[in-house]
Amino acid sequence: MREQDGFPAGPLDAVEPPSVEENHVAQWRQAVGRRSFLKSMGVAGAVAVPGSALLASRAKAASRAITGGDVAILRFLAAAELIEADLWQQYDELGGVNGGNPAYMAALTNIDGDMPTYVHLNNNDEQSHAAFLNAYLKSKGAEPVNLDAFRTLPSSKATGAKQIGRLTSLTALDVDTSWYTRYRSGQNPDFGAHFPQAFTIRKQPAIPISDADTPPNMDAPLPPTTPAQSRMQVIACTAAFHFGYIEQGGSSLYSTLAEKVTSLEVLRIVSSIGPAEAMHFATWQDDAGNAANAPVAPVTDPVTGLTIPNLHADPRGALVQTNLIFPTPCEFITSHLPHCAIVRPTLDRNGGAVATIKSFTADRLFEGQSARFFTTVMELARKADAAGRRTG
Ligand SMILES: [Fe+2]
Ligand SMILES: [Fe+2]
Repeated sequence: MREQDGFPAGPLDAVEPPSVEENHVAQWRQAVGRRSFLKSMGVAGAVAVPGSALLASRAKAASRAITGGDVAILRFLAAAELIEADLWQQYDELGGVNGGNPAYMAALTNIDGDMPTYVHLNNNDEQSHAAFLNAYLKSKGAEPVNLDAFRTLPSSKATGAKQIGRLTSLTALDVDTSWYTRYRSGQNPDFGAHFPQAFTIRKQPAIPISDADTPPNMDAPLPPTTPAQSRMQVIACTAAFHFGYIEQGGSSLYSTLAEKVTSLEVLRIVSSIGPAEAMHFATWQDDAGNAANAPVAPVTDPVTGLTIPNLHADPRGALVQTNLIFPTPCEFITSHLPHCAIVRPTLDRNGGAVATIKSFTADRLFEGQSARFFTTVMELARKADAAGRRTG
């Protein structure tokens, strides 16, 4: 069995199945039959060949084409995945299972022994999403998305980080933790509900900024015994909540944009990648619960003053209970219907493309980016939100 990057791959991996459109064209050709097809067109014999070739090539071109709306959706998703891939790459370089920063990896391991492995796998997945979406766009004759001109932000200076330009910054995040209470609530933001923060994270690094944060050979006892160990643990716990924030956003984004797709094949893509985001989210829900629970929490960063609280002991009870990691049933479609366990939000204004970029911006993920970057990604986002499902 072939192994790639340590993961087994099945023998059918290289077989590319025909697209839905290709299947339809093939079935149509089979049903009509070449002879009756030529007859119905009033042509026969040798003179028919160029005409049938032309029609065949038109049919092939039609099978390749997707609507402008579908292209806009896929182009925005490709941009969003490039952004995700950029941030996950940074986490992976420092804290992934093959990462280069032992102190950060040890603090992540305190939250979940498998956390460095999950970080690495999440990064792999994001790289695959970005590469697939761009390759698919190209295969349909559409322009792929390239954000390389915006890889201008500095890397962490901590041991393990490559010194290359980045799209995103992870060193002073305002992590919105309202996703944590939203998914534990019976209310839905699409019905106008607002949700409190689990706790407030302002201008907090989610990766070590430099080796001042990662003294050589620093271990990670619980509870931490030195100020540097406490800071590193809070940085790792902040990352756990940031992971959940990013992946719940991806889950809502794909569900929201799926409603606008026209082509069945594009719907298949959007509705197959989206649940992968939700799988990531579910895992990070669990690890966020571990990060804000004994024996890891409470813990305070002596530099920023952020305290990761023990939410298990929080008087708000179920709203922040750490093991409630599945989506609590909530209002859906109309308040007259029974509550339903769902991804939420899924309305444009809350979970769409523009809402996603606005949320990432409020997260300070793009701190230091150029005005042209914002113009570029917002233009892609507006076009995706404006896409509409074509039924005719
Ligand atoms: Fe993704
Ligand atoms: Fe993701």
